[in-house]
Amino acid sequence: MCGIIGYVGDRPCRDILFQGLRRLEYRGYDSAGMSIITDGRFGLLHSVGNLDNLEAILDDLDDTGTLGMAHTRWATHGRPSTENAHPHTDCSGRFAIVLNGIVENYLTLRAELQREGHVFTSETDAEVVAHLVERAYKGSLREAVADAYRRMEGHFTFCTIAVDEPDVIVGIRKETPLVVGLSDGESFVASAVPAFLAHTRSVVFPEDGEIVVVKREGVEILDLDGGAVERPVQQIDWDEETAEKGGFETFMLKEIHEQPAALADTLVERISPDGTVVLDGLGLSPEVIRELRRVVIVACGTAYYAGLAGRYALERWARLPVEVEVASEFRYRDPVIGPDCLCVAVSQSGETADTLAAMRLARQAGARVLAVTNTLGSQATREADGVLFTRAGLEIGVAATKTLVSQILAMLLLSLYVGELRGGLGTDRVREYTEELRRIPAQLSDYLEDGAAAHVEDVAARYASSSFFMCLGRDIGLPVALEGALKLKEISYIPTEAYPAGEMKHGPIALLEDGSPVLVVATDSHVYDKLVSNMQEVRARGARVIAVASEGNESLAEMVDEVLYVPRTDEMLMPLIAVVPLQLFAYYVAKRRGEKVDQPRNLAKTVTVE
Ligand code: G6P
Repeated sequence: MCGIIGYVGDRPCRDILFQGLRRLEYRGYDSAGMSIITDGRFGLLHSVGNLDNLEAILDDLDDTGTLGMAHTRWATHGRPSTENAHPHTDCSGRFAIVLNGIVENYLTLRAELQREGHVFTSETDAEVVAHLVERAYKGSLREAVADAYRRMEGHFTFCTIAVDEPDVIVGIRKETPLVVGLSDGESFVASAVPAFLAHTRSVVFPEDGEIVVVKREGVEILDLDGGAVERPVQQIDWDEETAEKGGFETFMLKEIHEQPAALADTLVERISPDGTVVLDGLGLSPEVIRELRRVVIVACGTAYYAGLAGRYALERWARLPVEVEVASEFRYRDPVIGPDCLCVAVSQSGETADTLAAMRLARQAGARVLAVTNTLGSQATREADGVLFTRAGLEIGVAATKTLVSQILAMLLLSLYVGELRGGLGTDRVREYTEELRRIPAQLSDYLEDGAAAHVEDVAARYASSSFFMCLGRDIGLPVALEGALKLKEISYIPTEAYPAGEMKHGPIALLEDGSPVLVVATDSHVYDKLVSNMQEVRARGARVIAVASEGNESLAEMVDEVLYVPRTDEMLMPLIAVVPLQLFAYYVAKRRGEKVDQPRNLAKTVTVE
């Protein structure tokens, strides 16, 4: 996820662009850049780190130009560095581009362009666009953009400027946002409305594959063949804060709805056309993987539950013994690890102090260390032997949501990969799983679009005044139950117990009273019948059961008080879907109680102290 802003008008645009970037900083801030056309030449500026670093050198850029673009980056391909910061230019220095999203076939395109003599200066997927436009340009930037777009696969938005056409910005989108702002004698293009809300509320939303030609006097929207397209000008009545959240009332709710995209992005290039898993950068050769004797997963908080889910998959598919441990405990034990052990550190920030310490301990003991993280360039990436990136984009809500599902997905991909290499899983079976995995982003997206949130809100309203919750699950449903309970504790502050459903009768069942709400992860699985017995035990004590169940399981509805149906998938992949109603449940309980969900009390997004 990155932020784009472009301006064309009569005013000097440098400070307008910078202020726009500030409003987009929530989309990423590991590097930034700006490009302005002045006197028929590009002025270019790049910086690493957050926008303060760009601001510090802003005066190096001439401030008289009235057309330009700026970008704030959340790295996906290529670490945060000045070379990888946008805007990127072509070989001739006549075109500059900014991109948000992922160009899936960039390696093929890059190789093709290099064969033709194009010289690349960054590691990014985005740079191919500058060279594609350069190659295609025959006097019309619009046509060159259409040509480049036709060659590109993936989901992205990009905008281009050219020194030969100093009055126009040309942009196009595919499954990622692009909005145009219109005002008197000036126009804007951006990833999101807040970038220009201080200047105009008149907005046009182009659709996928439509080219926007943005000029001082307005915008032309065209299809790829140059045919005119009509799009209405809409008036935005959001305040700035709502606009930043894309129309959602909180970042957490927005991020819950971004989960299908987080999963789709994390899958990019990781499943080959023949259905096997491709993982680069693990720092583990097939020989090393075959010789592993153990895996230790270390993490904190929500990431720990992703690790727990990973254990079921690694053990089942790779037949490797796996331990999962909270990093703050692991680091002070005297764990038995050595060179035949793989330590997997899961951390969305890659900066959590205890997780980093646990990684160091494992390394000193001779273990290989793999970091599963959402943050390129983070400390974890520098200290690990290999890295598996999740691509959830920037998460602002303190209570993790989209980073969790992408971590679980990363653990599943790793388990399939290791499982196939070690012969625990046949290629056909891997193919079946990857086919199911590919379907999940769309299934989840349909689920969220079909009013799931409204239904969960309804149910949550009936239980929001409870003073206690219990969450139960079995097998790979257990980490889902644990995470559901953590969400309730974090944002609603209601004491919540989470337990393996079969173990509950050895203690926590004593907590249940008439009417106590119990959330049960009861999706289809090989332990479903066992779970049904556990639900009966709970109900016999007068508790009320709210079950997360697989779509079509009608008979369950007669046994429980509420059912939250979710789309079907294989039981091993189910955590990716089943956790979503629990996130929503915690969310609406907290909202109903008037809590500030994005900034829960006493918590921090990244804990860099032990
Ligand atoms: C904090 C956050 C949690 C997060 C945990 C681990 O406690 O509030 O949401 O799960 O840190 O963070 P990490 O960045 O290592 O995944």
